[in-house]
Amino acid sequence: MIERILRRAAERFGTPLYVYDLAELRGRVADLRSALPASAGLFYSLKANPHPSVAAELRRAGCRAEVSSPGELAAALEAGYRPRDVLYTGPGKSPAEIEEALARDVRWFSCESAAELRRLGRAVAGSGRTAEVLLRLQPPTGTKAGLSMGDGRQFGFTPEDAAHACAVLPRGIALRGCHVYLGSQFPDVTALLEGFATAKNTIERVSGMAGITPGVVDLGGGFPWPYATAGTGPALTGLRAGLGRLLSDWATGPAPEVHFESGRRLVASAGRLVTTVRDVKERPEGTVVVLDAGINVLGGMSGLGRVLRPTTGFLPLVVDGEALPAGHREPVTADVVGPLCTPLDRLAVRASLPAPREGDLLYVPNVGAYGLSASLVRFLSRPAVVEAVYDGERCVGAWRSVTTSVAVE
Ligand SMILES: Cc1ncc(COP(=O)(O)O)c(C=O)c1O
Repeated sequence: MIERILRRAAERFGTPLYVYDLAELRGRVADLRSALPASAGLFYSLKANPHPSVAAELRRAGCRAEVSSPGELAAALEAGYRPRDVLYTGPGKSPAEIEEALARDVRWFSCESAAELRRLGRAVAGSGRTAEVLLRLQPPTGTKAGLSMGDGRQFGFTPEDAAHACAVLPRGIALRGCHVYLGSQFPDVTALLEGFATAKNTIERVSGMAGITPGVVDLGGGFPWPYATAGTGPALTGLRAGLGRLLSDWATGPAPEVHFESGRRLVASAGRLVTTVRDVKERPEGTVVVLDAGINVLGGMSGLGRVLRPTTGFLPLVVDGEALPAGHREPVTADVVGPLCTPLDRLAVRASLPAPREGDLLYVPNVGAYGLSASLVRFLSRPAVVEAVYDGERCVGAWRSVTTSVAVE
């Protein structure tokens, strides 16, 4: 059925085309919620996919919003999140973006440094307002996350810096607790539980040094799901029970309110990219398939553990003008490239796909998270891709996110 929806959507909107399925999103939230303690809060991380329809569906399903830029904040508010349900995170927040967030009634900030606390203090000074702050703590290195934040060193406070910052908090800052985000793509439940235990230990240790009792903790996430290849994430069986045991006892005092964050686990499977084969070249070194989708719409961001792998999945939708089930054509091994004028525009190396011909329609599954949001959308100025949103078979709307230059002077 999904193939039929994708073919119709491509006829209607052309390709390359992202298709998001709201029904799938609801399933994913229910799945993740059932794996977390019932009392825990869940933030949707808009960096995975800031499309307002996607964000709005997750809000209706009970998520709060984790944003880390003015654009993500605007998307969250457009999606109907109440400002008090938004957590503003990320290093290097500028005075202007802090002021904008406060002016839009955002109150919760994850703060990364003493300098940022001072900037936030200056922004709230004289306004009579209070900013509710979680101290983001630097995660340890060497966790089992596919992409480990501790290895970057740029995030959060060291324990010593956190203890010092707590002693000299600017006026207008209400310190509510701590935030630790260890990384993305933990491989399984055992690794996730180990990660959350590390996050909890980090918070307990720093709280002890700083003499604080956190009332709210954000333990991050890292819930896994495949990227741009067929399949599903590992089951989270045992996570709820394991977290129940882990979170029943806190060295810091009474159990705090606990939150988690997720992007990819919630939205990856709801997004598919439909693309047309523009050219097929037989070369002595092997077949090259040229698509109308390149790193401008998928996988443009390197260095995040999200670079497309040679196994990237391309599933056939229409071959020789006909809708066909997978497997009709003999598979070939081919390099798959996009339409950009750079040898870097490669979506997959030695991928196996049914021998494609010009005009065939293919789709890439599991790209609802970090598909478009992690792409080089302005590179080579090709038209912005259309994002069509469906609820089951019904098309809810379609959008083209325009990137233009606006005069500032
Ligand atoms: C602070 C923070 N929260 C949440 C996320 C979302 O991670 P994921 O999409 O893997 O759930 C990220 C991803 O980089 C992050 O940096």
